[in-house]
Amino acid sequence: MSPPPAHPPALPLIEGMLARRTTNGPFRPDPVSREHQHLLMRVAQAAPSHFNSQPWRFVLVENPQTIAEIARISGESMTELIEAGVFFERYRRYFRFSEAEMEERRDGIHIDHLPGPLRPFTRQVFSDAGLKLMRQLGVPKKLGEDNRKLVAGSPLLLAALLDKSEYRPGELSGFYSVFGLGAAMENIWNAVGALGMGIQFVSTPMEIPRQWRAIQTLLNVPGDLELMAVYRLGYLPAGEKRPSIDWSSRHRKRLSQFVARERWGEPEEE
Ligand SMILES: Cc1cc2nc3c(=O)[nH]c(=O)nc-3n(C[C@H](O)[C@H](O)[C@H](O)COP(=O)(O)O)c2cc1C
Repeated sequence: MSPPPAHPPALPLIEGMLARRTTNGPFRPDPVSREHQHLLMRVAQAAPSHFNSQPWRFVLVENPQTIAEIARISGESMTELIEAGVFFERYRRYFRFSEAEMEERRDGIHIDHLPGPLRPFTRQVFSDAGLKLMRQLGVPKKLGEDNRKLVAGSPLLLAALLDKSEYRPGELSGFYSVFGLGAAMENIWNAVGALGMGIQFVSTPMEIPRQWRAIQTLLNVPGDLELMAVYRLGYLPAGEKRPSIDWSSRHRKRLSQFVARERWGEPEEE
């Protein structure tokens, strides 16, 4: 028997996975070729699923009117969530405000890009006074409009759905199907990088049930399917253009922070 192949043939795949990231900025307006769209669907269905059930379903959306409407809903949801303080309240534990904090925790998102007038107040966004100031400065509207533009300017939206005969929350098959969809999405996420594309969740509508229902209606989601997530995709422009309020999240925990050897409590050494 020949020995297993040496590392080099696997390296591009692994390097690609290590370089995978979320795109916060705009895409090029060019349509995503049908060939690339189908390739993304192929890599999605190459994912593992319980008993090969392939519980995932996808809707590829290119119609500019549908994209504009989803963009409007997304931006409006963003404004509503920020305006009411819901977003920061719900997710404050993930926010980091300095490189030092990021370096120590090695998780969460670092708000490292803010317009000048807001910079002195970064840490106060979670206080009532901070929220009031943000409202006075029109931040919720600005964030909503930025988000609307980002989604509206994306040539392709992808809706990920699950077959409800598999997705039964509270039962193991509910967990299995979410796990399978996660694997399918990760394959897509890794593949977009290799195609010169980017991808980002369009998640604000999920936070507001009526807005999520509006998207379900737009996409004609039938009763036997559950709309799980919506993403925006497109080809990446040459230079990275960051939104006016932006974060970075490239840090990852050290081995000792998330891996144990033999039994929990024995942190793995680097
Ligand atoms: C379940 C899930 C939900 C996410 N929700 C959002 C989101 O709402 N908006 C967004 O821009 N990114 C979202 N992300 C992407 C994460 O923010 C991102 O993966 C993380 O910050 C690490 O950054 P990276 O993907 O660039 O490595 C989500 C990722 C997952 C797996």
